Amino acid sequence: MRGQRHLVCRASELPPGERRIVRLGGRSIGVFNVGGSFYALHNGCPHKGGALCEGPVCGTTVDASFGYGRHGEIVRCAWHGWEFDIATGVAVADPAVRARTYPVVVEDDHVMVVLPRARKEPDDE
Ligand code: FES
Repeated sequence: MRGQRHLVCRASELPPGERRIVRLGGRSIGVFNVGGSFYALHNGCPHKGGALCEGPVCGTTVDASFGYGRHGEIVRCAWHGWEFDIATGVAVADPAVRARTYPVVVEDDHVMVVLPRARKEPDDE
């Protein structure tokens, strides 16, 4: 996988249902364990820039009769309540809106977020 890996923690330190907010490469990123799979979201809401990853992890309305489902798969922004799929970053109410996601790699019990490498400026060489 291209990019630079940044260590977050041991997988055993981030059990299902938990999250960590970390600062990596100058970015605030939320790393979530959803049912044993790890995901990383930019901690900035696409709506007005609220700390998206600090909102409640929850479910959402899943059908026209207002049934509740997908518990633990959604993060709700604490500022105005927009909901996002943690795995994809897609907004529940409008699939055209997405929170930024980052790849996560787990190797040897280490959870790592993969960030794009910083570009070198011509004067750096
Ligand atoms: S800033 Fe997140 S819902 Fe408005």
